[in-house]
Amino acid sequence: MRSRVLSGMRPTGALHLGHYHGALKNWVRLQDEYDCFYFVADWHALTTHYEETGVIEQNVYDMVIDWLAAGLDPEKSTIFIQSRLPEHAELFTLLAMGTPLGWLERVPTYKDQIEKLKDRDLATYGFLGYPLLQAADILIYKAAWVPVGEDQASHVELTREVARRFNHLYGRAANFEAQTKAALAKLPKDDARYFERQRKAFGETGSAEALAKGEAIVAKAAAQLEGWTEADGELLLGHLKGSGKSILTEPQALHTEVAKLPGLDGAKMSKSYGNAVLMRDEPEVVAKKIRGMATDPARVRRTDPGEPEKCPVWQFHKVYSDEATRDWVQQGCRSAGIGCLDCKQPVVDAIVREQQPWRERAAAYTANPKQVHWIVEMGTERARTVARQTMKDVRAAMGLAY
Ligand code: TRP
Ligand code: SF4
Repeated sequence: MRSRVLSGMRPTGALHLGHYHGALKNWVRLQDEYDCFYFVADWHALTTHYEETGVIEQNVYDMVIDWLAAGLDPEKSTIFIQSRLPEHAELFTLLAMGTPLGWLERVPTYKDQIEKLKDRDLATYGFLGYPLLQAADILIYKAAWVPVGEDQASHVELTREVARRFNHLYGRAANFEAQTKAALAKLPKDDARYFERQRKAFGETGSAEALAKGEAIVAKAAAQLEGWTEADGELLLGHLKGSGKSILTEPQALHTEVAKLPGLDGAKMSKSYGNAVLMRDEPEVVAKKIRGMATDPARVRRTDPGEPEKCPVWQFHKVYSDEATRDWVQQGCRSAGIGCLDCKQPVVDAIVREQQPWRERAAAYTANPKQVHWIVEMGTERARTVARQTMKDVRAAMGLAY
């Protein structure tokens, strides 16, 4: 069986080239190798934009059309919408019971986003809890891999801790307790006490140092103690890390080399910054946007030489141009042999060429919105089968299967 990949995107409406090169292109590639689940994280949009509900539906379908346009194939990938699966909310609620507040307060994106989105009131319960909702999104499908950008790596890490804690609290074999106690009793008294202190520290704070200190005690016992067995070591390591029987699967972040495409002004591409080229922009619009791009400020006149490294257009060449074209840019820019408009033309051509199949596929879907709804409906039902099974296991483990 192919291992499962899961990822989600907030519904921000029609996608831009930054979304494509940063994530979507990779999603398309993954669907040939993995059992891919891709969903619209519409509840996540509400964690920051809870007042703007009027645009959600349109944004959801515009985004799904761009997914399909880019080549996500509903025959290969399961495409669905988070809010159609209340199971995500149920798992979120159950996980919330045992998740320490500190784990959420310490997620780096929490303070970052509050700083960044100063104009919004993000002192909400939903915003603090959103990485835990993300954990539920991932764990409910027992995903092995989560393709996310650097900025989301800490959320996958939190997900792993949440899964570990869940398995520890609710997944222990019947005699795990007694066996662990027996292994602990073999340790010298001081070591046992020290070990328990490290375990507690690791469980509460996730401190890598505490984990290493605990592991060192086990290693020492294995090297020095009479009558110590490998099984004793495994038990104590499981005890230390809080892993019992595995009900929820610890996922791993899947980092793939992706081409970084900045916005027209060199900053991060974002619709709200007004520096984006949309996947479905018409060719004339693409040409106009690229021709209007800022260039190396040192090139005031056509005869002034420039430096590609100081020019956002060069970043586009790095994504879109072959080596010969890139050489032509470097040479021509530094010697003032080419003008900036000459330099931009191959980028315009490459983007328009890239967009061609997207435009064709998107046209078919926009002409037939029912088909898009139907694709999402199919995916949602497929996802529901998996989510329901996980919730059965979770309820049973927590004594809620009455
Ligand atoms: N938090 C992600 C974002 O803002 C979207 C997301 C929600 C997600 N749930 C997820 C991504 C689960 C990967 C896995 O981009
Ligand atoms: Fe930028 Fe190209 Fe102009 Fe050089 S020639 S400044 S790389 S647009």
